[in-house]
Amino acid sequence: MAYENIILEKEEKLAVLYINRPKAMNALNKETLLEIKDAVTAIKDDPTVELLIITGSGDKSFVAGADIAFMQNLSAMEAREFGALGQKVFRLIEAMEKPAIAAVNGFALGGGCELAMCCDFRIAASNAKFGQPEVGLGITPGFGGTQRLPRLVGSGMAKQLLYTADVINADEAFRIGLVNKVVQPEELLSEVKKIAGRILSKGQLAVRLSKAAANEGMQTDIDRAMSIEADAFGLCFATQDQKEGMTAFLEKRKANFISK
Ligand code: CAA
Repeated sequence: MAYENIILEKEEKLAVLYINRPKAMNALNKETLLEIKDAVTAIKDDPTVELLIITGSGDKSFVAGADIAFMQNLSAMEAREFGALGQKVFRLIEAMEKPAIAAVNGFALGGGCELAMCCDFRIAASNAKFGQPEVGLGITPGFGGTQRLPRLVGSGMAKQLLYTADVINADEAFRIGLVNKVVQPEELLSEVKKIAGRILSKGQLAVRLSKAAANEGMQTDIDRAMSIEADAFGLCFATQDQKEGMTAFLEKRKANFISK
């Protein structure tokens, strides 16, 4: 599929997906969501890619939300379908075995904040701005915001942001736990790639099992969650990576993981 609204770059084991609609502050219309879906499916199935970074083109906006011009005249059923598409695409990213990091380089509003939240974690440029401004448009968030924001920052803080439509800066997003780190804009991608490099130097099967266990465990009760962890832990001992990781430690050398 030829992309018009995104750019997909591959650098060794990394894929970097840029949302690229500069005229609309990288807002998400249906075509853009379908292109993201296509790209993420390709990354998911590409054995040479181990980690995905999502960011916005330019220096102003990560994603300024779902496309308001596109949504303005939708019928209720069309809007439901559009919301369900966004949810499906973002869930694909969240549930993908490989880790995904959001490099938030500016406005992450509405669907943009929701896109950042479906990634495993978020690193923000100091000029980043976060918010769910939907109630100011007379609508609710539609790509997972009412569900992921409370899970990430707690119910009270999430509801304040959802009800007021307040936009917060990167430092406040860091304070409430929405982002893990704030860096200078010009350092954002290199910092995210550094973190990605630390992840890629580890056993990728173990990283993926950690992601799956954390994701599944957070959706269930603690006893079932512990059982999910026990299964993941046990499964690691069937991998070459476990043998290599523990042997390398005991031989005082760097492990050479091969994801087997
Ligand atoms: N949809 C469509 N177009 C958008 C857009 C959006 N979400 N955000 C920005 N644009 C467009 C503007 O209309 C403008 O286009 P023109 O040049 O053709 O007029 C262009 O991008 C530049 O935007 P501004 O002139 O407004 O730039 P600014 O620097 O003054 O402000 C901004 C930037 C604060 C991000 C502002 O554009 C803004 O508030 N955007 C809307 C944010 C928003 O409400 N997002 C939520 C959308 S609803 C949603 O996402 C629902 C959901 O959960 C699925």
